Amino acid sequence: MVLLSILSCTLAVGAAAQTIASYTEPKSGITVQAYQSPTFTFGLALPTTPKADFIGVLVGQGSGYAGISLGGAMTNELLIAAWPNGNSVLASFRETPKYGSPPVVTGTYSMIPIANGTYVNSTHYTYTFLCRGCILADGTTFTATSANAVLGYAYSTKAPTTKANVTTAFSKHDTQGNFGFDLTATKTASYDVWAQYAKNVTNSVKVAFRA
Ligand code: HEM
Repeated sequence: MVLLSILSCTLAVGAAAQTIASYTEPKSGITVQAYQSPTFTFGLALPTTPKADFIGVLVGQGSGYAGISLGGAMTNELLIAAWPNGNSVLASFRETPKYGSPPVVTGTYSMIPIANGTYVNSTHYTYTFLCRGCILADGTTFTATSANAVLGYAYSTKAPTTKANVTTAFSKHDTQGNFGFDLTATKTASYDVWAQYAKNVTNSVKVAFRA
């Protein structure tokens, strides 16, 4: 028992050590506040007066998927999953009331890829995007007016079941958890310039981009 609590204490300290720090996506030059690990990164940038949009940078490793929850939990929150397929990065919105492969969801939100920050290399893939209309008032995402936002992350070493299809199913992630953003720190005067990098509005469900 004692050993167990020491162990969980050590784990908690280890997890807390992984804080949010400034990260500049090397190809686009976009600087976000990011949760970073060797296998997964998610970064966020907001305009100085945020409404419903944000810029996201999602980095995954190998052929596995990388996912985030805009509301923190897996269930009943707006999720975004991204994964590579050859030289393309695919991404889609997902939502589920229960633990299990989350189906595609559509709404008033859309993802617009930022081409110069979206690519696949020999070890990782990076998906940089403008999330338009993604900060919702229905409880499924963080709110832009809060001081802090708790988001969730989940990633897997396994590729999605049918990785060429944006509606693919997933197997369960190997790693998941939560991270908290100080939203003030994510606000940047450069946002408007970077948001204009986003081109080629696709539909609200899917983004497929060739690097
Ligand atoms: C078959 C597919 C999936 C299954 C069975 C599954 C199941 C679960 C379960 C049982 C948990 C609770 C924590 C734990 O067990 O350790 C969890 C957490 C989480 N999952 Fe999934 N998941 C799946 C796919 C996904 C996908 C594709 C995403 C994101 C796009 C995602 C996002 C999350 C997040 C953010 C958490 C942490 C927050 C929380 O615990 O609610 N999951 N998942």
